[in-house]
Amino acid sequence: MGNFLRVALAAAGVLALGSAQAGGDWALPSHVAVGSTPTLAEVLERRHSAAEFSEAQISTEQLSFLMWSGCGENRPELHKRTAASARNLQEIHAYAVMEDGAYEYLPREHQLRRVANGDLRRDVAATQPDLARATLAVVLVADLGTQDNELVAGIDAGIVAENLMLAAAALGLGARPRITMDDSRLAERLGLPSKFRPIMNVVIGKELR
Ligand SMILES: Cc1cc2nc3c(=O)[nH]c(=O)nc-3n(C[C@H](O)[C@H](O)[C@H](O)COP(=O)(O)O)c2cc1C
Repeated sequence: MGNFLRVALAAAGVLALGSAQAGGDWALPSHVAVGSTPTLAEVLERRHSAAEFSEAQISTEQLSFLMWSGCGENRPELHKRTAASARNLQEIHAYAVMEDGAYEYLPREHQLRRVANGDLRRDVAATQPDLARATLAVVLVADLGTQDNELVAGIDAGIVAENLMLAAAALGLGARPRITMDDSRLAERLGLPSKFRPIMNVVIGKELR
């Protein structure tokens, strides 16, 4: 399937995640194309760390909304983002880890750039292997060359993680923020530059309750 057709179908919400990822890079549909409009109070009442996930897929619109909520641009003319960062250094990079591969989220383009083939969700799940059933794990990586204070980088990652959790709650999805993961294996398989450090991850998918 050609890229144009894939993007058009994804924008129309026709493709499930598995087939939409079949190519290389991936232009996401607009983040506004999700139907759920709970109030902020309702979202905060729903927020919790999910313990169990089903293998059910999430839609491309949901993926788009999640990535934008975590790290996307909400003032593109200033290249500023949904998540605050100390001194606006924007040192947190979000990697979407899914069944068919891993992608770096590019906020300016609102695109996913494929960085690895194959399923790295077990490397994210690590000592909690059941969490690898969830469709998506967003690995938050700090560029310590840009922000050399690891404490501040951790705070900035936490802000992105909370955005992701609230977005998941708004979509009726389960999410769990975690520091557990196989950092060194992920750094290798994601091809991270030497100053990039995995800080935490958020596992997201349909919750089993
Ligand atoms: C920084 C941070 C790291 C966490 N790391 C893990 C983890 O490695 N594994 C895990 O299962 N849960 C992890 N959690 C989830 C917490 O256990 C959970 O947030 C806590 O039990 C409170 O539950 P709640 O989120 O449902 O309110 C983490 C949460 C935070 C904020």
